[in-house]
Amino acid sequence: MVQGTANWNTEITKEWLQSYVDDWVQFYKKETKEGKVASYIPVLKKADPNLLGITIIGKDGMMIQSGDVGTPFTIQSISKIFSFIVACMERGVSYVLDRVDVEPTGEAFNSIMHLEMRKLKKPFNPFINAGAITVTSLLNGKSSEEKLEPIFQLFTKILGYRSRINEDVYVSERETSVRNRAIGYYLIELGYLESALDLTLDTYFKQCSIEVTTEDLAKLGLVLANDGIDPQTAEEIIPRNVVRLAKALMLTCGMYDASGKFAAYVGIPAKSGVSGGIIATAPPRVRKETLPFIEGCGIGVYGPALDDKGNSIAGIKLLKHIATKWDLSVF
Ligand code: DON
Repeated sequence: MVQGTANWNTEITKEWLQSYVDDWVQFYKKETKEGKVASYIPVLKKADPNLLGITIIGKDGMMIQSGDVGTPFTIQSISKIFSFIVACMERGVSYVLDRVDVEPTGEAFNSIMHLEMRKLKKPFNPFINAGAITVTSLLNGKSSEEKLEPIFQLFTKILGYRSRINEDVYVSERETSVRNRAIGYYLIELGYLESALDLTLDTYFKQCSIEVTTEDLAKLGLVLANDGIDPQTAEEIIPRNVVRLAKALMLTCGMYDASGKFAAYVGIPAKSGVSGGIIATAPPRVRKETLPFIEGCGIGVYGPALDDKGNSIAGIKLLKHIATKWDLSVF
C-alpha cells in the first residue's frame, strides 16, 4: 500500500518528503512491467524497461530525487518545447504562429492525417512532429550547429554545463526515420519549411538526441514554472509571453493524445518524449495551508517503458499520485 494521507499543515521537511517519494517510486516501479520501450528508433530498444526515477526541485532549491536518476537519456520530443521557445525568441511569436497553430490534435505525435486533410492549412501545434519540424526549419542558421547553438546556450545557462548529443541515437534515427521524411515532404508541398529538408531533419534529429538527466529536466521545468526567470540568479532567461505560450501548449498538447486525461488527472503543464522522459512544471499555488513546493517546482521523470500513446507508463502514474497528494494541479 502506498503511504500518503499526509496532513501537510505540519512543518514540511526534506527528509519527510524524501521518504514519501521513495515509497511512491518503489510502489510505481512495478508498473513499468505493463509498458514497452520505444523500438522504432533502433538504439532506444537498448534502454532498461525496469527503470523509474524522478527529480523534483523547488523554487527555494530544495531537491528530492528518487529511483533511477543516474541514467542519462535523450530528450526526444521534450526538445520541441525549447526549439519552439528559441524560434519565438529569434523570429517573434506572431511569425512562428503564422506557420504553426496551437490546437491539440487528438492524434498520435507522428500523424500525417491532418496535414493531408489540410483542415487547418498549417501544422496543428509545435509538439506534433509536423509542427516541430516546421519550427526547426525556422531556427536561424545555415548549419545544424548554428541552428542548435541558442538551444545549447539556453540549456547551459540553466543547467550549468554544456549538454551533448548522443551520437548513436542521432544516427539511429537519421538512418531509419522514413515517417519524419514523409512529413517533411508534405511540409515542403504546403510551403512551411524555411530551410532545406535535409538540414531541417538533421537539426531535428540532433535536437531530439540531446542527452539529459531527470535533474536537468527538473531544472528546466523550474525555470518554466517561475515564468522564465532563473530562481537562482533572478535572470530572465525566457520572456514571459513565450513561457506562457509554451506552458499552455504543454498543458493542451504535451502528452499527445493523452493530454486531456493528463490535464484532468494530473493538471500541470508537462511534455513527454519517446525515450521515457517527462518534464513537468508546477506553478506556485495560492492556498492558506502549507503544501509541499507551494512556490512551484520543476519535475523530471525517467521511465523508458511506454504506454500505447508513447508516454512513460509508470512515470505518468507516479506524477498523478504526487500531483494528487501535493495538490499540484493548476485547476
Ligand atoms: O521524431 C520522433 O519520432 C522522435 N525523435 C521524437 C518523438 C517523441 O519523442 C514523441 N514522444 N512522445
